[in-house]
Amino acid sequence: MPRSMLPLLITMTMVATARADSTDEAAARGRRALESQSFNPSVWARSAYESVWKQWGLKEKPTKYDRAVREHYGLHPAPFPNDGLPMGLRKGNGLIANGISVDCLVCHGGSIMGQSYIGLGNSELDVQALFEDLNKASGRSGRLPFCFSNVRGTSEAVGMAVFLLGLRDPNLNLQLKRRELGLHDDVCGDPPAWWLLRKKKTMYHTGGSDARSVRSMMQFMMGSLNTRSTFDKDEATFRDIRAFMLSLRPPKYPFPIDRDLAAKGEHVFKQTCSKCHGTYGENWTYPNRIVKLDEIGTDPKRLHGVTDEFGEYYNRTWFSREKPGWLSDEYTARPTNGYQAPPLDGIWATAPYLHNGSVPTVYNMLKSDSRPKIFTRSFKTDKEDYDPVKLGWRVQVLDKPADSNLASYERRKIYDTSQPGRGNSGHVFGDDLSEDERLAVIEYLKTL
Ligand code: HEC
Ligand code: HEC
Repeated sequence: MPRSMLPLLITMTMVATARADSTDEAAARGRRALESQSFNPSVWARSAYESVWKQWGLKEKPTKYDRAVREHYGLHPAPFPNDGLPMGLRKGNGLIANGISVDCLVCHGGSIMGQSYIGLGNSELDVQALFEDLNKASGRSGRLPFCFSNVRGTSEAVGMAVFLLGLRDPNLNLQLKRRELGLHDDVCGDPPAWWLLRKKKTMYHTGGSDARSVRSMMQFMMGSLNTRSTFDKDEATFRDIRAFMLSLRPPKYPFPIDRDLAAKGEHVFKQTCSKCHGTYGENWTYPNRIVKLDEIGTDPKRLHGVTDEFGEYYNRTWFSREKPGWLSDEYTARPTNGYQAPPLDGIWATAPYLHNGSVPTVYNMLKSDSRPKIFTRSFKTDKEDYDPVKLGWRVQVLDKPADSNLASYERRKIYDTSQPGRGNSGHVFGDDLSEDERLAVIEYLKTL
């Protein structure tokens, strides 16, 4: 090697090492950002949190107030210092002094077996009640511009993005007249676990976005107090947040596992499931398959809930014009024709299942005629709420739909699979397994 190349080589090695370090550092910065920033300025005063119980029809403020608030709305204790607020609510800056707002973790922070995790989807949340009540406690109308949630544990996050993007021009400046981009609020979205992102090439339930896109995740900060300059300023932080997401690993299954049975299950899994869900262990593979709607047969509302108009407009905005480096494409949204088969890492912890949370356990996933049609559950996440045989939430099956007089807060606790967006059909790939094979596959899934 010519001597003159030595400095170059040294520099290159230094860059490589710096890069390895900086990935960890970026992930650490991303975690700190999620634990300390809300990305949307406060819209409620802290006093609204303290008085929100008055919306529950009670005469007196409950003792153990923070716990009562968490249970009422399906929030979880923050696993980091959070000014006495549950994970997902955040002391914020903004126009309101001493205000609060919500952050990503209201939907992407969950708990299981008494432990809270950043990045576990919140499958207990009633975001509709939370927003309505905090608005009312702030002396405003409780009316929301559209439905934020039809059923507890799911949200209309997609509709929120469609609504909010319609309020902005392609450069993200607010515009006076809202652009109609085909708003649907019956999608019933169950948030995917963030630890799966590291395997994905495309993201969102339909695989409609490039999983490398940082700006795509910034759609969740389109609250109307944010200006274009906020997006520019926060892009680097979101790059760190993405690095943090890629560093996440699922929580381990906390109960004993029958290793022999799991080995049998692995064999069945490889034959029946791997072509869509990949293989696991050190040399894992993930095919990133988007399975056509007529093959998967699950509820179509989410697929059709994002219209071509939205996609085309999105692709004209700042969100899609992300240039990650020379030679790379922009990260545009693209329509797909089905749902992405997700990686199944940590699947024991992410019940309920399917993109709309319509199936309470893995067992129900693998035997379609066992799926309950109308059900409710405790919306708590402790040991007694979990079913370690079927792998998922214990539910109470109901024999009739909710009474039409029932208050909407109570009605949202009932999952009725005959309702729009909530169908539990499809994914019949476990139906032909023998019961022994099915239980073996479940045992194997506990190890992922
Ligand atoms: C109101 C609830 C809600 C909030 C708040 C929210 N999300 Fe989500 N998020 C969802 C839902 C639901 C999905 C699934 C969307 C779909 O494809 O239907 C999702 C999907 C995602 C995905 C794709 C994951 C995958 O594997 O496909 C990422 C990444 C993400 N959200 C990041 C964020 C970030 C970062 C924030 C905060 C800036 C945030 N979200 C705020 C509900 C929410
Ligand atoms: C033809 C492809 C395909 C095959 C084969 C397949 N799956 Fe799936 N699976 C999917 C898709 C696509 C989804 C997401 C569907 C949706 O959300 O609407 C899914 C979802 C799931 C989920 C729920 C994931 C979640 O987080 O909600 C589980 C669990 C699952 N599959 C397990 C299995 C097992 C076990 C097998 C083998 C017995 C199997 N699948 C076979 C495509 C497949």
